[in-house]
Amino acid sequence: MDKVDVVVIGAGAAGMMCAIEAGKRGRTVLVVDHAHVAGEKIRISGGGRCNFTNTRTAPEAFLSKNPRFAISALRRYRPQDFIALMGRHNIAWHEKTLGQLFCDDSARQIIDMLLNEMRRAGVTLRLGVKAEAIEKTADGFTLSVGGAPVACASLVIATGGKSIPKMGATGFGYDIATRFGLKVVETRPALVPLTFEIGLLERLSAVTGVAVDVRVSAENRARFEEAMLFTHRGLSGPAVLQISSYWREGQAITVDMAPGLDFFDVLRRHRTETARLPLQGVLAQYLPRRLAQHIADTEGAAGNVADAGDKLLRRIADAVNRWTVKPVGSEGYRTAEVTLGGVDTDDLDQRTLMAKAAPGLHFIGEVVDVTGWLGGYNFQWAWASGWCAGQAV
Ligand code: FDA
Repeated sequence: MDKVDVVVIGAGAAGMMCAIEAGKRGRTVLVVDHAHVAGEKIRISGGGRCNFTNTRTAPEAFLSKNPRFAISALRRYRPQDFIALMGRHNIAWHEKTLGQLFCDDSARQIIDMLLNEMRRAGVTLRLGVKAEAIEKTADGFTLSVGGAPVACASLVIATGGKSIPKMGATGFGYDIATRFGLKVVETRPALVPLTFEIGLLERLSAVTGVAVDVRVSAENRARFEEAMLFTHRGLSGPAVLQISSYWREGQAITVDMAPGLDFFDVLRRHRTETARLPLQGVLAQYLPRRLAQHIADTEGAAGNVADAGDKLLRRIADAVNRWTVKPVGSEGYRTAEVTLGGVDTDDLDQRTLMAKAAPGLHFIGEVVDVTGWLGGYNFQWAWASGWCAGQAV
């Protein structure tokens, strides 16, 4: 039987980072992935440029049953640490917005960097093979890797969440957690477009494809100010992906399409200052033209602003500042960027990511119940949790 110190299952962001760190500490490390290439989610992330971290990383940007759990790992491995690693590999990057860092060139550079680091640290990578028959032994674990038995002292589960099953996402990590007696916080798609019922979609058909900067809020008061996109299924865009992590079935979301403006005041000002403008023309000064037309049509705002009474102006202002709408669902794991929930942090040590009840067994990355906002936070969690486990295995 082959013997190694560490087996990492999953050659994604977290698994590769963990393997590098363990290898650098002189451990013999085997990384196993059933996919034929490593780091596929890195490759497709950030539109091919990978939003690899966020300089505003703070515990508030993460959802978890225990919001304090991630603090330790996020403090020990910071965005600056990953930026320094990129610097050593001469990978150029830029900030796009809101602290979000992207590669100038291609996400492929990050995958190559991680593969190079693994090689340098003496890590063995086996792709296109299955890890099965995991058993606990007196001094570690045994498993079957591509049909051959392997023994290890530490086993790291880095198999990610359920999003994009087409790319090899499975519930594997949750099954292992359950088998070893760990709890799993209910999982659901997150950072995902929200969908509307057919009648509402028909009423909104005139604005399909329109993007607008909004402030969107959920019933639990979570709020995000970013772009929103009307789609032929419902709503998407960064603001909506963000709020999807907080929204639950049966709840409404409220959208302010002119954040920072009291639109009732705006309309009343126009009534005195630009009296002969049609209402739709006033709306179009603040909103995309098709959206302005849609709101004017829906609210029956046909005439000039001068002829509009306060009641009509209030209705239009509410449609702009407080559009409240009930999605019926989300596009699900097919398009979700991440999975909310996962291995219960109560059952893990926050410094080493090791299962309290199964010494030697670690869970890192997205499989854990720690989910970041959109904007590089999820990769930062993958790097940080992988790095921490890499110091301990
Ligand atoms: P990850 O999913 O990366 O890796 C898990 C690995 O385990 C995979 O290689 C998989 O094949 C393997 N595996 C699964 N089951 C297995 C089994 N049974 N046996 C063996 N191997 C198995 N985040 C961010 O911060 N910035 C961004 O720009 C983006 N963009 C983005 C775009 C899209 C389209 C998606 C879907 C997601 C993002 N994300 C993101 C989220 C980010 O990709 C995600 O949080 C991390 O990849 C999670 O890293 P992990 O290593 O935990 O899992």
